[in-house]
Amino acid sequence: MRILITGGSGFVGRTLTSQLTGRGHQVIILTRSSSPGPPPNPNATYLTGNPLKPGDWQQTASQCDGVINLAGQNIFTRWTDEVKQGIYDSRILTTRHIVEALSRATKGSPRFLFSTSAVGYYGDRENMEVDEDTPPGTDFLAHVCQDWENEALQAERYARVVLCRFGIVLGRNGGALGQMIPLFNHFLGGPLGSGKQWFSWIHEQDLAGIFIWLLDHPNISGPLNCTTPNPVQNRELARSLGQALHRPAFLPAPGFMIRLVMGELGSVLLSGQKVLPRKLVNAGFEFSFPDLSRALGNILAS
Ligand SMILES: NC(=O)c1ccc[n+]([C@@H]2O[C@H](COP(=O)([O-])OP(=O)(O)OC[C@H]3O[C@@H](n4cnc5c(N)ncnc54)[C@H](OP(=O)(O)O)[C@@H]3O)[C@@H](O)[C@H]2O)c1
Repeated sequence: MRILITGGSGFVGRTLTSQLTGRGHQVIILTRSSSPGPPPNPNATYLTGNPLKPGDWQQTASQCDGVINLAGQNIFTRWTDEVKQGIYDSRILTTRHIVEALSRATKGSPRFLFSTSAVGYYGDRENMEVDEDTPPGTDFLAHVCQDWENEALQAERYARVVLCRFGIVLGRNGGALGQMIPLFNHFLGGPLGSGKQWFSWIHEQDLAGIFIWLLDHPNISGPLNCTTPNPVQNRELARSLGQALHRPAFLPAPGFMIRLVMGELGSVLLSGQKVLPRKLVNAGFEFSFPDLSRALGNILAS
């Protein structure tokens, strides 16, 4: 298949491109960069275009077999009003322009839109178990996710739409672990606040595996929790990471400090959701890394 990925140059996109091309698919990575360098492998190409704006890239998108939508401004920074607008626009406008492209497609293609969302959709849920039927939360990220998903759902008239609600993606070269490992290596690791908040996560290889699996399971559509069946509390994450790195993990970062330094994002880091991937499990998806200690062992071994 010929698949266009927005945000394909990022942390998740790099692993996904490698898995898709490894299975013989052709990947077009849409990037805002005018000089992205050589493509990561022979079955991948870069296409320069800004998904925040309509443009020639939409023509290419409309001629692909499917689109995977990963684009979005990084949320891990202090949220000023301007940053919040950027976080919102980079997801909602991008998705709107993809749907516009799909509406122009000639008969038969594209056949799918796999669009990103996040477990932040559910807001802070304390100890409650959450699945795809749980209603959305009310905080900023929950609103972003709802609007992001609603934009993607506009493509249902033209294509199959899956709303992939990512947990925190754990992988080798970036994401949350990219931020945490240096702290632990400098003996500064530990739980955030009380450490009781739930942390719903997924290994990057399993996340890429879900997209591959979706290609073979055309009956799956709508919201899909992309998380391991074994979420952990934040203190368990700190303990497991400390163990895997052979470093102590007892230095808690006090909640008030996190809120002071990170502002509104701090409140998000101190809250969480215990998310279960009900649809994936019921449909028989097999996780390669369902447990945190094995996942961390694999990630840190290389
Ligand atoms: N990583 C996680 O743990 C996690 C968890 C939940 C949800 N997600 C979501 O999954 C998606 C992929 O995550 P990731 O970790 O791979 O992110 P990433 O490494 O930050 O990559 C995102 C890509 O989006 C593009 N992008 C960045 N800012 C943009 C902007 N202002 N407007 C348009 N495009 C922009 C960039 O591509 P170019 O610069 O090449 O254009 C970038 O490579 C994101 O939407 C993220 O919110 C990630």
